[in-house]
Amino acid sequence: MEQLLVALDVDSRRRALELCNQLRGTVGGFKIGSRLFTSEGPSLVSTLVEHGDRVFLDLKYHDIPTVVAQAVQAASRLGTWMLTVHIAGGLKMLQAASDAARQADRPPLVVGVTVLTSLDSKELERIGIHRTMQDQVEDLAQLATDAGVDGIVASPQEVARLRARLGPNITIVTPGIRSAKGTGAPLRDDQIRTLGPAEAMRAGASYLVVGRPIIASSDPPAAARAIVSELENL
Ligand code: C5P
Repeated sequence: MEQLLVALDVDSRRRALELCNQLRGTVGGFKIGSRLFTSEGPSLVSTLVEHGDRVFLDLKYHDIPTVVAQAVQAASRLGTWMLTVHIAGGLKMLQAASDAARQADRPPLVVGVTVLTSLDSKELERIGIHRTMQDQVEDLAQLATDAGVDGIVASPQEVARLRARLGPNITIVTPGIRSAKGTGAPLRDDQIRTLGPAEAMRAGASYLVVGRPIIASSDPPAAARAIVSELENL
């Protein structure tokens, strides 16, 4: 299932490769975040790419434009399929990331992070943003699309509004997916506002990122297949 991406939120190469071997063919790609990347480094990306996997490198680049462009070039050379940048890095940084990706031999998709799901409105105030979460998320998403990036990361409850505002061509990547099927019970962990996989796709998501409901399951392939079957019945 092309749209289902699995978050490899583990800290060893051995465990990551074990999960990939179990899930390859059932899911559409694997997300490597800062934890696994910091532990195991770029060679893990190369290994997965050699296996033909799509690698979503979620390192949320946020730096001056030149540095981000160089990081995007390096990620592209590894064969990364999709990567994240922080939209708060601004228009020039987003354009630099997008230009660097387009110039690559195998251009990765660049998707922008709006507001981290760990921030609430009180925390936004503390970092000097005195307006609603929704306004902040929507304006950052608009900035990302104006800058020419391929897509954005959006929580399930934001997807429908953002899809309506940004149109059909923008890629929307959605974490925060929880489903009763395949996990024995609704499993929320620290995901507060969740949607089931089919609901998220219906709301307009392009890709779903699922971590713990699959990787912490006693039977990851079965958990992945359960989500796939929900998506196939859309
Ligand atoms: O919750 P789950 O394990 O499915 O998380 C999958 C991905 O969702 C994580 O790798 C992380 O990037 C993202 N996440 C998030 N907000 C949270 C928890 C996880 O955006 N509160």
